[in-house]
Amino acid sequence: MCGIVGYIGWQDAAPVLLKGLKRLEYRGYDSAGIALLNGTLSVMKQKGSVGGLETDTHTLRQEMPGATLGIGHTRWATHGEPSDRNAHPHLNAAGDIAVIHNGIVENFSALKQELVSQGYVFLSETDSEVLVHLIDRIWKSEPSLDLETVTRSALRHVEGAYGLCVISSREPDKIVVARKGSPLVIGIGIGEFFIASDAAPIVEHTNKVVYLSDGELAVVTREGYSIKTIENVEQEKIVTELDFSLEKIEKGGFEHFMLKEIFEQPAVMHDVMRGRVRLEEGRLCLGGIEDYLDRLKQAKRIVICACGTSWHAGLIGEYLIEEFARIPVEVDYASEFRYRNPIVGVDDVVIVISQSGETADTLAALRTAKEKGALVMGICNVVGSTIARETLCGMYTHAGPEVGVASTKAFTAQVIMLYMLALALSKGRTISNEEIVLNLKELVSIPEKAARILELDGQIKSIAERFKDAKNVLYLGRGFNFPVALEGALKLKEISYIHAEGYPAAEMKHGPIALIDEDMPVIFIATRDNTYTKILSNIEEVRSRKGRVIAIANEGDQEISRLAEHVIYIPQASGPITPLLTVIPLQLLAYHIATLRGCNVDRPRNLAKSVTVE
Ligand code: G6P
Repeated sequence: MCGIVGYIGWQDAAPVLLKGLKRLEYRGYDSAGIALLNGTLSVMKQKGSVGGLETDTHTLRQEMPGATLGIGHTRWATHGEPSDRNAHPHLNAAGDIAVIHNGIVENFSALKQELVSQGYVFLSETDSEVLVHLIDRIWKSEPSLDLETVTRSALRHVEGAYGLCVISSREPDKIVVARKGSPLVIGIGIGEFFIASDAAPIVEHTNKVVYLSDGELAVVTREGYSIKTIENVEQEKIVTELDFSLEKIEKGGFEHFMLKEIFEQPAVMHDVMRGRVRLEEGRLCLGGIEDYLDRLKQAKRIVICACGTSWHAGLIGEYLIEEFARIPVEVDYASEFRYRNPIVGVDDVVIVISQSGETADTLAALRTAKEKGALVMGICNVVGSTIARETLCGMYTHAGPEVGVASTKAFTAQVIMLYMLALALSKGRTISNEEIVLNLKELVSIPEKAARILELDGQIKSIAERFKDAKNVLYLGRGFNFPVALEGALKLKEISYIHAEGYPAAEMKHGPIALIDEDMPVIFIATRDNTYTKILSNIEEVRSRKGRVIAIANEGDQEISRLAEHVIYIPQASGPITPLLTVIPLQLLAYHIATLRGCNVDRPRNLAKSVTVE
C-alpha cells in the first residue's frame, strides 16, 4: 500500500525522505517520488524502486542543495497503471503546489470532469491528482487565503479516504497534512518534524509521536505543529512514546524479514503471554478487556471479523471459544460483513482482528458493528493504530513490528491471544479452575516446543528443494488444524506464486481428489487427535492416486512414516493448541520454496502489508 514521508527541519531533506521511503518498502509499492522545497519546488518520481529513485535524485539534489523540507511517497497502483507519471507527488500547472496522497478519492471522476471543463490539464490517470488542482483552483479564486485554509476547503469537496501532505513554494516553511481513513503520524524532534503513514520511518529519529485522527488537519512548521479538525476546531493531542527500536525493524542477521519473523516466534510467544498468564495464581490477567469481561461472557454470540491471515486466526478463535467457553461464534470476512446488512445487535460481541490495525475492510466492519450496537473488541498488533483506537476494548498482541508482507509471527500471536481469551471467557462458567491451570501450563510450554520445530529448518529446506517446481499444492487438515491448512496454502501462494488450496481433509473427496496425480504434492496436518485415524484414511486415498504426501505429525508416530514420502515431526501437544506448532513448518516450507524459486519473499508482487483501500 502507498506510503508517505515528510520532513521539515534543519537536515538535508532528501536523504531523510529516501531512507524513510525505504523503511516503508515493506508495505508494497510500484513507484516512488519525492518533492523538495528550497525556494522553488522540484519533483523526482518514477516507476520502480526507491533504490532507483535514490540514484536518479542525485542530480536533483545537486541542483537543490540544502533543501530542508520535502515530502516523499511510495505508490501502490489503484487508479492508473504503475508509471512515472502516475507516481506521486503531483504538481499543479504552475508547479508551486505539490501533493502526495494515500487512499482513494471516490468522487474523483466527477471532480476531474469539473476541473477539466474549467481548463485544468491532468498529467496522470490517478484519482489523487484532482487534489492538487482543487487546491490550486480554490487558491486562485481567493489568493489571500493560506495553504491550510485552501487545503481544508478542497477537502470539503472530497469523498473517500485520504492521508495527505501538501507543500507550496508560496508558503515555503510548512507542510499541511490531513487524514481521513488513511493513517498519518507526526514525529516530534528538536527543531524538526517527521511525517509518515506509519511509525517505521520515524523511529530512528525520535520516539515521540502524535497520531492524527480521522477528520483532522495539521500544519507542521520548524517551530511546532497545530492540529484542527477539517471543520477548523482546535484539537488537543496526546504525545505517544513509541516502544519499538530500530534494531527491531531491521533484519538482525537473517536473509529476509520473513525468516527473521518466523524465528522470532518463540520469543514473541513469551511476549504475548508476559504479565497475562499468571500461572502461580492460576489465572489470566487481560488488562485491555478486564472491565468488559462480564459483558463478554454474557454475549449471546461472538462474531469475528478480519481479513487474510488474521481471518485464519479468527477461524481458530471460533474453534477455541466454542470448545472452551461454549459461546456460539461466527467468523466473517470483514469485506463481506460490511456489505451484507449483518444481523448484529446489542447482545453480540464483535471481535476484529488485525495485525496492522489499519485494514480498510476490517475498520469498516468495526464501524458497522458499532453502529448496530454490538460491543466491539479488537486484537491488534500495531499500537495506536486506528482499529485499536476505535474499539471499545481490546488487547495488543505485542508481536513487535512485522515487516515481511506475509504474516507469520503476528498470526501465532493472534492465536495465543484468542486462546487466552477463550480461557478467560470460560472461567467460572464452563470449565473448572484446574482445567484452566492445565491449559495455561500447556500454553507456557509452547515457546520451547516452537523453538524445537525451528531446528528442523534444514530438513524443511530439503523438502522444499524437491517440491519447488510444483504447479499446485493441496493442504489438508481437520478440526483445529483446518484453518492451519488454509494458512499454509495462503503462505505458499503469497510468496512463491504457486497455486495452493487449503481444505478440511474430509472435503477432499468432494472435489479436490480429482486433481490428484503424481505431480500433486499434498500436505497433511496429521497430528494425533480425535480425527487422526480419519486423516490416515485420507492419506491412503491420496497415495493410491499417486499423490505425493508430506505429513506434519507428532514425534514418535511411526505409522505415518510408512504412508508419507516426507514427515516433519513436531512435539506433542493437545488438539486446541496444535495450530501454534503445526503452522511453523508450513511457514518455513513456503519461505524456502519461494526463495529457491528466486521470489522476493519480503515484498511479493501485487501484495501489500497493510491494505488501506477496499
Ligand atoms: C494483507 C496482508 C496479509 C494480512 C491481511 C490482513 O493482505 O498481506 O498478510 O493478513 O492484509 O491484514 P491485517 O493487518 O488486518 O491483519
